[in-house]
Amino acid sequence: MKIFKDKHTLQKEILKTKGISFVPTMGALHKGHISLIKKSKKSRLKTLVSIFVNPKQFQKKRDFRNYPRKTTQDIKLLKKLKINYLYIPTSNDIYGFKPRNKIFLDKSSKKLCGKFRKGHFEGVLNVVNRFIEIIRPKYIYLGKKDYQQLFLIKRHIEKRKIKSRIIECETIRENNGVACSSRNSKLSKNQIKVASNIHNYLRNLKKKIRKNYNLFNTNEIKKDLLNLGANKIDYVENYNIKNFKRIIKSDKNFNLFFAYYIKNIRLIDNI
Ligand code: PAF
Repeated sequence: MKIFKDKHTLQKEILKTKGISFVPTMGALHKGHISLIKKSKKSRLKTLVSIFVNPKQFQKKRDFRNYPRKTTQDIKLLKKLKINYLYIPTSNDIYGFKPRNKIFLDKSSKKLCGKFRKGHFEGVLNVVNRFIEIIRPKYIYLGKKDYQQLFLIKRHIEKRKIKSRIIECETIRENNGVACSSRNSKLSKNQIKVASNIHNYLRNLKKKIRKNYNLFNTNEIKKDLLNLGANKIDYVENYNIKNFKRIIKSDKNFNLFFAYYIKNIRLIDNI
């Protein structure tokens, strides 16, 4: 595994290869990332993983500072997984140039997480757009846990006629049902139990509302989540996952999207 900290040396190495399969991450790698990397390795192209905690996608400095960082551990894991390239850029390496493409921010960026984390998706698209220009990947592997992010990156790529293809990967879950996330490493045992109870409650709720949509009552659900130990709920909503529109009656393509806090740890998922 070759490690790069500078885009010019990285480009010299990769632009002569047949194409790159790219797995962008913010580090603190978990089973979800491992699954993306294993899928990427099956593409037969060289796999490049990036680790960059992107300051522009955090609204609060404190959230950025508290984001888990485990670079030494991550490097060990990536060596074991036998990826080809690891890119750990500095902020200047990423933000010290003017990209050719302007970001395209679909209007659905204002919904769900976009409503509660102002500027978050601009920050995500800004960094992904720059990574694309540096790496020119053939494939980009993204998980469905961050479905809104995935949808918006796809829209940007379509709109700007970028040649990279997004490979959508299923959410990987812990045995207790909770979606794998770097933020889970910040949860205590009791808090993991709360997250798991919330997951089970929402999974059962989805089954019920599939049969009878009238059972979907956001205020009641929010009350139940608070009783289960959530400290704050940003949203619980049903969206059609094909067109990413909110649904108001039963629809076979819907997922239940939610974001809530346990103490100051924000968790999101869709089931
Ligand atoms: O999902 C993430 O880890 C980040 O949002 C991404 C795509 C690496 C951009 O910083």
